[in-house]
Amino acid sequence: MKTPRVTARAHTNIALVKYWGKRDEDLIIPMNGSLSLTLDEFYTETTVQFDSKQQTDHLILDGVTQPTTRVTPFLDIIRNQAGITAGAVVTSTNHVPTAAGLASSASAYAALAAAASKAAGLTLNRQDLSRLARRGSGSATRSVFGGFVEWQAGTNDATSYAVPIDEHPTWPIRMVTVVVDRAEKKIGSRAGMQTVVKTSPFYQEWVKKAQADLAAIKPAIAAHDIQQTGAIAESNAMAMHALNLTATPHFTYFTADSLTAMHCVEELRAKGIPCYYTMDAGPNVKVLCEEQHVAAILTALQAHFDKNDLLVAHPGPGVQIIRED
Ligand code: PMV
Repeated sequence: MKTPRVTARAHTNIALVKYWGKRDEDLIIPMNGSLSLTLDEFYTETTVQFDSKQQTDHLILDGVTQPTTRVTPFLDIIRNQAGITAGAVVTSTNHVPTAAGLASSASAYAALAAAASKAAGLTLNRQDLSRLARRGSGSATRSVFGGFVEWQAGTNDATSYAVPIDEHPTWPIRMVTVVVDRAEKKIGSRAGMQTVVKTSPFYQEWVKKAQADLAAIKPAIAAHDIQQTGAIAESNAMAMHALNLTATPHFTYFTADSLTAMHCVEELRAKGIPCYYTMDAGPNVKVLCEEQHVAAILTALQAHFDKNDLLVAHPGPGVQIIRED
């Protein structure tokens, strides 16, 4: 018995208020709520078919067979819900201009959740799809929706999911990515946040700040206030990265190039251009701005970086089923 072959597309998202720490490692329940912008330019397309002749799962990522260590337990959740035991063939392609080191677990698990649940015959609403995507990777919870998205932390599997804040922003908001390093990150987000929760004496302060930032950024986004939105996002990102330096062992995702990009943004701001940086669990810097300032920002960054390493993204859509046969 073979199920239908279903293909889903999901886009990456960049958090303006970060998720950094779990209260439950298995269910991936976060310590604090977070808020992100889904981006149009970077996405994953994933095709899933369950086949009862298939004893084990197969994963082909960008044309290369990969171990299914993380994917099989995730598919098990779906098999349990659907009452099936068949193995799956999962084929996934990341669409990122060049090998920019921007492939994300957010788009990967949102696409896998949508394609695999549909192939298995489940009909999930978007809240339940968001809860399912969460089990693969925390940030995937938010990629189920487009535009500005809040992940409500909740306290258990039923209450931890994302909600759309503004799925189709009319605000001409942009995210310029400065690709400073294409290499795989050395300390994955899972290990990084675990170390911080266990060892940083400032962890509770982070949770308080993230909650306050989340409350403050929502009215700023609603008002299309770039100064407020950007200042909160930048401050939140720096708090998360500062926290990493207070862990034992301490660590950082900053490189010399990350600092160069951040200084460049600060100089632009001193000249009156509203632009603000954020960084995730890697050295690439993302710059939040409005469309009218993109050209000036690119010109300034080009003094330090190759123009092929500067990518401009728009708000993107939520996860979609794009094929079924
Ligand atoms: O869901 P993960 O394991 O990819 O962790 C995401 C962590 C950050 O990107 C740093 C923050 C966030 O909220 O996306």
